[in-house]
Amino acid sequence: MINRLQLPILFILFLLQTTWAADLKKVFTQHRFNFGKLPEGELVERSVKLNSLLNQKLTILSLHSSCGCTLLEMPQREIMPHGSSTLTISMDTSAKKGNFLKVIEMENNLLPDPIIIVLTGEVTHNAGKMTNPQVMFKGRCKNCHAPNNISKLNGKPLYQNVCLMCHQKGIKLKKLTANKIKTIISSGVKDSSMAAFAKSKKGILTQEQIDSLTNYLLTTKGGR
Ligand code: HEC
Ligand code: HEC
Repeated sequence: MINRLQLPILFILFLLQTTWAADLKKVFTQHRFNFGKLPEGELVERSVKLNSLLNQKLTILSLHSSCGCTLLEMPQREIMPHGSSTLTISMDTSAKKGNFLKVIEMENNLLPDPIIIVLTGEVTHNAGKMTNPQVMFKGRCKNCHAPNNISKLNGKPLYQNVCLMCHQKGIKLKKLTANKIKTIISSGVKDSSMAAFAKSKKGILTQEQIDSLTNYLLTTKGGR
């Protein structure tokens, strides 16, 4: 149990911990990189230089990006005190539209939390010329966007496996009726990253699965 005397101490510890964490976040001179405008449907490669602010040797143990459409390379994983290393990012812009924000996490030998690098930019494309988002159901994209086990899933677990990644904030259903929702999931949204998911439209879901997702969205007011 926490008594009255312990509370102020806990509060001070909390303050100390947050300021400490804030200091540790800044490891490199720059953590945020803006790639500007990138064309849709291309493999874009960019290198960024990471200059260490630390007095100790930093070793990057692993690199992780949320979307596998962003591949990372960092041959030199040991960064000397105040030294630097180069991170190369290859990004497949297929089926993307508008502003993006990708977070790269680096597990390392010094800090308990991963170091965060943020990439931003804008994917531009000519209307009607966008790559069909169904590329996500193929090749190596499939591992995450259409994993093998989904044929057995329905409702919430299915939603969490194939939809949630793009709809983290929930879906605003506004006045969409059940039928309209089913049509959107089946046929996708033209000129956007929202693919046609119905098997009858070369997607990955059966009508029964689409019905179950629609039910899930309606009963949870948009998957929140
Ligand atoms: C390692 C798993 C993984 C792989 C492989 C993967 N993705 Fe993704 N993708 C995700 C996750 C998670 C998100 C949502 C988070 C985000 O945007 O980073 C996402 C989001 C997206 C989005 C919508 C958000 C945006 O960036 O505009 C598109 C489009 C996309 N992926 C396309 C692709 C394509 C094309 C491929 C293959 C070249 C691919 N993905 C491979 C996991 C993956
Ligand atoms: C790769 C990203 C991505 C994935 C995966 C994805 N969506 Fe979407 N979805 C979008 C985008 C982007 C829009 C908005 C299109 C627009 O209005 O421009 C959208 C729109 C929608 C809408 C219409 C409501 C609205 O905001 O316009 C529904 C309903 C929907 N998605 C359901 C789903 C379901 C169910 C799944 C899983 C089977 C899914 N989505 C998977 C990107 C995605």
